[in-house]
Amino acid sequence: MAEHDIGSNKHNEAIAKALKQVSAHGTDLIDGDSAAREKLIASARELVAVAETPVETLLWNIWAPPTRSVALRIAVDLKVFETAVQDDGRPKSDAEFATPTAASPILVKRITRVCASMHMLEEKSSGLYAPNALTRLLARPEYTGSWDCAQPSFAHMPTYLKNTQFKNPQNPTDGPFQYGQKYPGHGFGWLTDHPDVFQAFHHYAYTLRKHRPNWVEMYPVHDRHISGPRENDSSVLVDIGGGTGQILQDFRKSTPEYAGRLVLQEVPEVIAVAQGMELDKSTNIELQVHDFFTPQPIKGARAYFMRSVLHDWADEQCRVILGHLRDAMEPGYSRILINDCVLADEHAAWQHISLDIFMMALASAQERTESEWHALIDSCGLKIAGIYNKGEGNEGMIEVILE
Ligand SMILES: C[S@@+](CC[C@H](N)C(=O)[O-])C[C@H]1O[C@@H](n2cnc3c(N)ncnc32)[C@H](O)[C@@H]1O
Repeated sequence: MAEHDIGSNKHNEAIAKALKQVSAHGTDLIDGDSAAREKLIASARELVAVAETPVETLLWNIWAPPTRSVALRIAVDLKVFETAVQDDGRPKSDAEFATPTAASPILVKRITRVCASMHMLEEKSSGLYAPNALTRLLARPEYTGSWDCAQPSFAHMPTYLKNTQFKNPQNPTDGPFQYGQKYPGHGFGWLTDHPDVFQAFHHYAYTLRKHRPNWVEMYPVHDRHISGPRENDSSVLVDIGGGTGQILQDFRKSTPEYAGRLVLQEVPEVIAVAQGMELDKSTNIELQVHDFFTPQPIKGARAYFMRSVLHDWADEQCRVILGHLRDAMEPGYSRILINDCVLADEHAAWQHISLDIFMMALASAQERTESEWHALIDSCGLKIAGIYNKGEGNEGMIEVILE
């Protein structure tokens, strides 16, 4: 956001400085430094912020993000992206996009042009659109899950917070989600009551992570989990709240030298879905119904793994979950592995900051900074042995041992 008069020397200097950054990171990337790509994106955003006037930035914020978000969601229901990729991506007209749902072509036109202006479709000529790489991603079913869960909470969050005198939401059954969705129970209950969203949500959680660094890439799995501290180690890796089992399946496939047991623990509804998805039998994953608010039935496992689980809960509930794991751990052997965001204390990544508000909207929960993780883990009589990260804005790995 331009702090100086447009066209003034100061404004021009600020633009020149931001441009220089864009140019430097762009050159590094072209020269083969792949880590420069994220810096390039950040500096390009900075350049836009410097070049825009405050009113332009304000209008963009008020108009563009909500329009983009709602147009995207409607376009999914209209099957715009699915249609766009058909026939080898031949450019199509609004009349063709309207056909699958018998929608009004005028309505479709109003949606497709938003999609094109926000790079979700490529506008070839007036009213004629072709798919791009983003269209192909959006043509898949999983990306609606997060929208359907969160949007009502987002829309009603300002009123909810005002009504509750701006208290930090921490009650998982009485927060912005319940207020927005007019639902009396926990968000996970709402999900199981909405099977389509439930399916989409689990696909989304899984697909999302396929595009981000895998825990195996950032954590010294071989040292900690395969080469044994014992002869004939009967190791167990338990994935707690592990969704539909793909994390364990991927682990078995990527780490064939691991000979131990793999156990997926989930609520009954998710175990039923996992059974229906028929995990690859050769990966030999044991499915176990388990409520992580009750004592952990597998004692002395080598690792208790949780991905995107603790960020669903406020500290009070996390202490119960972690307490049951602490009680099941074998000193000097068992570890808890937490695969979650570790927010920087300063200049936190936009992905972490946004997910923090998502978690408030969905579960009255939060993402945590490194010092907040330490405080939480210490308060359970446990200790962080190490934090592993790969790339800003991605989830990290927190290794926890008994004190
Ligand atoms: C955000 S999802 C993460 C799923 C998976 N770990 C992943 O990263 O894709 C959180 C999971 O916790 C599970 N969960 C919620 N409450 C639970 C409970 N009381 N006991 C066990 N699992 C639970 C949910 O069913 C859900 O699959």
